[in-house]
Amino acid sequence: MKHFSDAAKVLEGQRMFQVLALANELEQAGRDIIHFEIGDPDFDTPPNIVEKCVDALRSGDTHYTTSSGLDAFKEAAAEVTSKSRGFRPDYDQILVTQGGNLQIFYAMACTVNPGEEIVTVDPCFVSYKSIMKFLGIVPVSVPLFEENGFKLNPDDLEKAITPKTRMILINSPHNPTGAVLGAEEIEAIYNIANKHDLYLVSDEVYGRMVYEDSNTKFASPSKYDHCRERTIVIHSFSKSYAMTGWRIGAMTAPADLVSKMALLLETTSSCVSPFIQSAAIEAMSSSQESIAEMMGEFKLRRDLMVVMLNDIKGVSCIMPQGAFYAFANIKKTGLNDLEFADRILREVGVAVCPGSFFGDYGKGYVRFCYANSMQNIERGMKKLKGLLG
Ligand SMILES: Cc1ncc(COP(=O)(O)O)c(C=O)c1O
Repeated sequence: MKHFSDAAKVLEGQRMFQVLALANELEQAGRDIIHFEIGDPDFDTPPNIVEKCVDALRSGDTHYTTSSGLDAFKEAAAEVTSKSRGFRPDYDQILVTQGGNLQIFYAMACTVNPGEEIVTVDPCFVSYKSIMKFLGIVPVSVPLFEENGFKLNPDDLEKAITPKTRMILINSPHNPTGAVLGAEEIEAIYNIANKHDLYLVSDEVYGRMVYEDSNTKFASPSKYDHCRERTIVIHSFSKSYAMTGWRIGAMTAPADLVSKMALLLETTSSCVSPFIQSAAIEAMSSSQESIAEMMGEFKLRRDLMVVMLNDIKGVSCIMPQGAFYAFANIKKTGLNDLEFADRILREVGVAVCPGSFFGDYGKGYVRFCYANSMQNIERGMKKLKGLLG
């Protein structure tokens, strides 16, 4: 028996996990591999967060719970939003989920029909288009260019809108380029969404990860409608609290849409584990010092990696303003990005993601995630210099 749905046939997944699998295979065969392929902080989850989860488990907090999330979680999340974004969402605007990826799926599945369009950027986080294809939604891409610091130009965005567009999807700080959109650009994008009466999904999973020396400060379109009209904020604990394996996040959106997405969550996964929610409440309510410490460390790593990348023949890299990715231009090496990534993995054990994983405009670029130690970054860059000159 071999029968798959049309939707299953177009599933792409996250191809960086496929690079990780190959890198792990080589590692198990005894090769020394330096990992720059996957966006996973190498720091441990702060111990107070872990303790909270263990306490919750020990006290028997191991049953089903309200599918849209615990009130205590929503209270803590509303408090964080009021401090970080200047408005306090109602509880019925908040949905607790197993990470940011599912939020993107819920938002698209509950607002856009097959055959309708979502405008997003190219390159972009791989799940966006994979989810759209699975749901039969047509992705429309606005290219990002290195000359503009990989920032989305709102005029280009508006030109991509057609009568079939239902949603705009932006991501700042941006994966894979590390670009950050400023307040003016965000305002222009919000105005376009408003003018054309579209949902505006703002993927802010790296919202806490803007470098102190960045010439652009973090801005969110939620400022304009407080997520009551069209803005849907994607938020996750994965990156800023080093909690990728916990699978926890929360989205803020208009209440009527949240009620639909909550039904989808209830249908597919019932609820988010209460002990994981307890850990996330602790993350939101305790000292935020660990985020500042991680960002200080990521900045040192970013600076080291970008300087060393620019010293490799045929490679150049602009300074990322946020997240933990360097998007290096490798066009002058004479290799395409797939060949480049394959060659450096097999010949010198450096694992990276080819830019074309993120879209056609990622061709000729390679994403290096610098969530790795200074020592490994130095070692990896030296290996590349040894190979390429
Ligand atoms: C831009 C962006 N959005 C969403 C996610 C999903 O994160 P998670 O599902 O771990 O919360 C990622 C993960 O890499 C990402 O880079």
